[in-house]
Amino acid sequence: MPATLIDGKAFAATVRGKVAQHVTRLKDDHGITPGLAVVLVGEDPASQVYVRSKGKMTLEVGMNSFEHRLDADTAEADLLALIDQLNRDPAVHGILVQLPLPKHLNEDLVINSIDPAKDVDGFHISNVGLLGTGQKSMVPCTPLGCLMMLRDHHGTISGMDAVVIGRSNIVGKPMAQLLLNDSATVTIAHSRTKDLPEVVRRADIVVAAVGRPEMVPGDWIKEGATVIDVGINRIDAPEKGEGKTRLVGDCHFESCAERAGAITPVPGGVGPMTIACLLANTVTACCRANGLAEPEGLTA
Ligand code: GUN
Repeated sequence: MPATLIDGKAFAATVRGKVAQHVTRLKDDHGITPGLAVVLVGEDPASQVYVRSKGKMTLEVGMNSFEHRLDADTAEADLLALIDQLNRDPAVHGILVQLPLPKHLNEDLVINSIDPAKDVDGFHISNVGLLGTGQKSMVPCTPLGCLMMLRDHHGTISGMDAVVIGRSNIVGKPMAQLLLNDSATVTIAHSRTKDLPEVVRRADIVVAAVGRPEMVPGDWIKEGATVIDVGINRIDAPEKGEGKTRLVGDCHFESCAERAGAITPVPGGVGPMTIACLLANTVTACCRANGLAEPEGLTA
């Protein structure tokens, strides 16, 4: 039986629709417009694409978008001064500093200078600690999007065996925490894991977040398992013509889809959920800052 396709593009549109409804309510009932500030240092082409897309979608859901583009050689003190200014600005409810930063900037220092209440990436050490202890926090956007899709597909994931492949601070580790907080039995696998195929074969849920094109083949997947593919890798596609490329995930889609019960495609799976969850986190941060009820279904 071919797998059910989990349509992240459609799901993300639904999430953005809910966000837009909350934004309207905040404006009409309380005179508050949620605001998201995005800081981009340097000219990394992929980062520029993301930042443009974030700004556009922020405006589309009715929120204010504040974009700050700084030169690649910006001094750390100047970046920290901007973050301090944004921390103090009551019109700014969410702050995102686009990563990676140029090498001369201390990423940990910069992230930890953001007010945790405005840290819509959920990367601040306080939010990491709150998530790790099951307390209310800002949750990293990509894992939050994966969790939303899993909850939507399964109802509950309590008691399920989940394997997260990859241990990054941005995806792997927070993903494992979220699955654990939802009472799944969680394994974090990585490059040193012994017999990775056997570990993955035990899983009812596989979240692949390693950034290696098509590294998970179908014969690692348990019959009927749910596969969430976080990877977005560009590879050569000579079959499309000379110099052409295409996007693939960390899972080999065709073979995994033959065995999985459900699977997210690449593109159109996890990717669109990340920005949708960033917008959701901004509304959540805005509600918390104003002592208002949080939107339901948009948080962990
Ligand atoms: N660069 C790639 N992904 C992300 C993300 O989720 N947040 C930030 N701030 N930078 C990124």
